[in-house]
Parts: sequence; structure tokens; C-alpha cells
Amino acid sequence: MNVLDLLNDVKKEAVDYVPGGTPLPPIPEGITKCKLDANENQFGPSPKVVEALKGYLDDMYLYPANQITPTRNAIANNLGFEPNNIVMGTGSSSLICAVADLFFNPGDEMVLSTPTYIAYTLLESRYGITPVCVDNKNFASDVHGMLASITPKTKIAVIVNPNNPTGAKVSNEDMRYFMENVPEHVITVVDEAYFEWVDDKEHISMMEYVKAGKNVIVLRTFSKLYGLAGLRLGYAVTTPEIQQHLVKLEFNYGANRLVLQGAQIAIKDEEYIAASINNNTVGRNYISNALKSFGFDIVESSASFVYFNPHRDTQKFILDLNQYGVIIRGFGPTYVRVSIGRPEQNEQFVKAVEAILAKK
Ligand SMILES: Cc1ncc(COP(=O)(O)O)c(C=O)c1O
Repeated sequence: MNVLDLLNDVKKEAVDYVPGGTPLPPIPEGITKCKLDANENQFGPSPKVVEALKGYLDDMYLYPANQITPTRNAIANNLGFEPNNIVMGTGSSSLICAVADLFFNPGDEMVLSTPTYIAYTLLESRYGITPVCVDNKNFASDVHGMLASITPKTKIAVIVNPNNPTGAKVSNEDMRYFMENVPEHVITVVDEAYFEWVDDKEHISMMEYVKAGKNVIVLRTFSKLYGLAGLRLGYAVTTPEIQQHLVKLEFNYGANRLVLQGAQIAIKDEEYIAASINNNTVGRNYISNALKSFGFDIVESSASFVYFNPHRDTQKFILDLNQYGVIIRGFGPTYVRVSIGRPEQNEQFVKAVEAILAKK
């Protein structure tokens, strides 16, 4: 029997998620590799987390049973929520799939504003749903267009804020308008993976609507601010009503013992958090200003990367940068995205662009 015939009907059509930096392009020998293509936090994790994890390595033969509750409690406490508002997963990616598993029937509609994080657009091929896409407004979700696209078949609306790959954010006013007008039959997923990088102190999280009892799921991750992308921990903040169902989809613990222990230390390390945010803000300003001075069009970023139009063949531009050790990511013929790195990496990137421009 052909395996293809045995596959779940919908999954036969599943499309691969291709993460940033795969395959890694060849970098000339002797040149320092500067990987700015996947929004990893190049500042690295908190040294306190690294030190503590070394001490926990000997326990890795144990299942993480006794780490689930303290970590969930710590995350809840940190945000002013109860543990029954929190679901943890192996990266927020696994929670995106868990939400889809929980709610989608084939034929359902998902409303979103594009371009946005590719994982959401891939749900179409995995769940047999129909994505209803509106165009972004000023590179962020067009929440009014999204509201107008909701039908009785809409099951989920997704807003990535700040958006990836563009870095633009929706105003508080527009987010509130959406949340107050979204019909009750729609579950709203607000992906706040880049929330902590937003400079604007007035910027609000949609978690306040979880408190108000709305059908909303806010996704956050330890991959960005906390620099723990390799260990894979994300979480959802949602109502107890949704949490009780979503939590069942994380079989046999989900997250691993090390990251659960590390997370409890990471969220308390205020010195590291401030330094990590500062590194990003300083680097983002430096890169944004440099790109503007080169005459490129940039999108003002509230995240840990800058999306820009270099006014040249993007594929060639990316390959040219590789010759200087720099890896960034392209999005079609017009735009590319560079992640913020450590100061010396940001400089390596800017100098590489300068060198490419000087050759013309
Ligand atoms: C908007 C957004 N959501 C979710 C993720 C997934 O993050 P993770 O699975 O590492 O938590 C990413 C990763 O880049 C992202 O950009």
C-alpha cells in the first residue's frame, strides 16, 4: 500500500515550513559569519540562565513533570494572570498548530492581513481551511479590512502585532476597535512574538481582552526577548474556557525540562531584559538610519528586524551580502529583512552594504 494513500486526506497537501537560513548559504572562508536572517536574539540568553542550565544537565533523564506547574505559575504571575490562563508549548509555533487543531474544520475561513508570518498562511494546506487575506495597511494588519471580511464561516482571525516580516504595528485605537467589533463566533489570535521590542510605552497588549472574557488567544515566546529560540518555549494567554481545551493538545508535557527551568530564571533577570531591549533599540536605530542614508526605503520597525526595499534585485543583493559573511532574508522581488544583531554584527552588515554600493 502506498503511504500517500494512507495519509490523512488534508495532510496530503501539507506544505513545508522553510525557516530562515535553510539551507545556509556558502560564506567565503576566513570571513566571520553574521546570521541576521531569522530574528534570533544575537545578544544571546541571560548568563544567569546559561549558568543555571549547566547545573540542571544531569537531570535530563527525568521527564519535566515537576517543572510544568512552577513554570506555568511563574509565567502567569509575571503577567498578572492565573495559571489557568496559560498554555505552554514547544515554541509558539506549536501553539499555532494546537489552536488550529482545536478549532478548524475543513472549509472554515481564517481572516488575516498579509504579508505576515508564513506559519499562518501554511495552515491552509494543513487544515483544509480557506484563508481570507486582506492587504496590510502601512505594512501592518488592516483591522478594518479584516472586520469587513468576516463571514459566518470565519473561525479564526489572526493579527501579528508587531507584524513579521514588516515590523510595523497596529495602533492601540485600531486594535481596540477590532476587539470590540469582532463577532462572537470568531476566535482572535494576536501573535505578540515581538511585543517586548516596541519602544512606545503606550503600546498595549491584547491580554486585557483575555481579562474581559473575549475569545482571544495571545501568543508570546521565549525565542525573541529571552534569546532561547533553540530551546523552544512559547505560551498562550487566554481565557480559562479556551485554556482547558488547548492545554489537552500538549501531549506528554510538550516543553522540555531545561527550558522550563531556564524560563523561570529568564523572566526574573531584569538586568538582562533591559540590556537585551537596549541592544535591540540601539541596533535598530543604527541600521534604520544607515539604510535611509543609502537611499533605501525602510519600514519603521517596532520589532527586532528592519524590512526594506534596497531598490535592486533582492536575490542578487542577498548573494552579494553573503560574500561579506552577512545572511539576511528576502521576501519576493522588492523587499528584504535584516534582523538586529550585536553592535559588531550590525556594523558588519552596514559596511557590507556600503561596499556593495561602492562597487556600482
Ligand atoms: C510572528 C511570529 N510568531 C511566532 C514565531 C515562532 O516562534 P517560536 O516558535 O520560536 O516561539 C515567530 C518566529 O519567528 C514569529 O515571527
